[in-house]
Amino acid sequence: MAVDAVIIGLGYVGLPLAQEATRAGMRVLGFDIHQGVVDDLNAGRSHVDDLADADIAQMREGGFEATTDEARIAEASTAVICVPTPLSADGGPDLRAVESAVAAVARNLRPGMLVVLESTTYPGTTDEVVRPALEAGGLVAGQDFHLAFSPERIDPGNTSFGAKNTPKVVGGHTPACSDAAAAFYGTFVDTVVRTKGTREAETAKLLENTYRHINIALVNEMTRFCHQLGIDLWDVIDAASSKPFGFQAFYPGPGVGGHCIPIDPNYLSHNVRARLGYPFRFVELAQEINAGMPAYVVSRAQDILNTEGKALNGSSVLLLGVTYKPNIADQRESPAVPLARQLAAKGARVLFHDPHVQEWHAVPEAERVQDAADAAGRADLTILVQNHRGYDVDALAGASRTFFDTRGAATGGEKVVRL
Ligand SMILES: NC(=O)c1ccc[n+]([C@@H]2O[C@H](COP(=O)([O-])OP(=O)(O)OC[C@H]3O[C@@H](n4cnc5c(N)ncnc54)[C@H](O)[C@@H]3O)[C@@H](O)[C@H]2O)c1
Repeated sequence: MAVDAVIIGLGYVGLPLAQEATRAGMRVLGFDIHQGVVDDLNAGRSHVDDLADADIAQMREGGFEATTDEARIAEASTAVICVPTPLSADGGPDLRAVESAVAAVARNLRPGMLVVLESTTYPGTTDEVVRPALEAGGLVAGQDFHLAFSPERIDPGNTSFGAKNTPKVVGGHTPACSDAAAAFYGTFVDTVVRTKGTREAETAKLLENTYRHINIALVNEMTRFCHQLGIDLWDVIDAASSKPFGFQAFYPGPGVGGHCIPIDPNYLSHNVRARLGYPFRFVELAQEINAGMPAYVVSRAQDILNTEGKALNGSSVLLLGVTYKPNIADQRESPAVPLARQLAAKGARVLFHDPHVQEWHAVPEAERVQDAADAAGRADLTILVQNHRGYDVDALAGASRTFFDTRGAATGGEKVVRL
């Protein structure tokens, strides 16, 4: 039977997309190279936070099927690529997954197909990497098949905005390619926004994430001198937020994490440096400031213990919440990792509690505790790293010996020290 869309890469991005397309009545095939992911999905099991097993079961009823058989890509009229785009060891873009996914599509490309890249990447990727690989078999983009870039904006854990009601940016290789991509997404996304071409769509995504990265760095830098000047930065941000125009609140924290904020801006700065020979200074500065936050938290923890006559070396430190953002299980690039490692390197006994993390593979030396309040009462210092919904922060602060609040979540109390 003909397939309307094949979604390539069934992770945090691909799976919600497959869900929306299936809900809209499309016949959707999921392709992934990971046999375990495919087997789980076909058995009705979800591996991402935003979809429950019941959602997968519903998708299966709607005709969704997952496969590792790349030849089946040829059955689809549209192929959407949602594979990871990490950084390489030297900090540059690692496009290996994109290249391999595109090669799989190229081997199964048919005239009339629409191919969309959703993976976050540097400007020019669709035109310079994806297009030549697809055209190698003789079909021409914009003539024999459609090609577009459409950045994914999924925000895992966000219950207000999902794939359907978050406007979708699309940029085609030609206006007809944009039309084809807009028509595809228009069947299951409320609003489609067109850009002039693929480069504008690629850059729009990087602007969004760079904007966040830089503004988080701004408040992270401010938090250091505000602490020294005796100014409560959260109170400052609350006051500034009362301005109804021209200000958007960003909050300091122990560092940035996830698959987007610490990584995507590097795609842009690396590209600017490689092509034009000069730095994208804002990104490089923001990177430096945000990456330095775990070390800053460690130095503040040392100071806090010092005022109590204790050394970090030999003290027990409880970390509450080790994922990169609240209420999800995703640990990718979490700043809790360098924080825990640096604490352990300085001789602290590191304990952690996280309702979403059973085993913290990145920091095997950290001991998991079952009962956060009980552990807080016994640890020399408790650090709130991630404010999960389930935490009663004031109660945890009250139960602790000393509570270092890196999220501005506790309402006060003698034991609380804010970042
Ligand atoms: N997670 C987010 O919040 C988010 C938000 C916006 C954009 N993005 C971007 O979306 C892209 C995908 O991210 P993700 O979070 O969904 O990643 P993910 O790791 O959750 O999922 C990627 C999936 O792709 C599969 N895969 C890898 N190589 C493949 C290949 N060659 N062919 C087929 N499948 C392959 C993996 O097995 C995995 O199941 C990235 O470019 C990311 O930057 C992610």
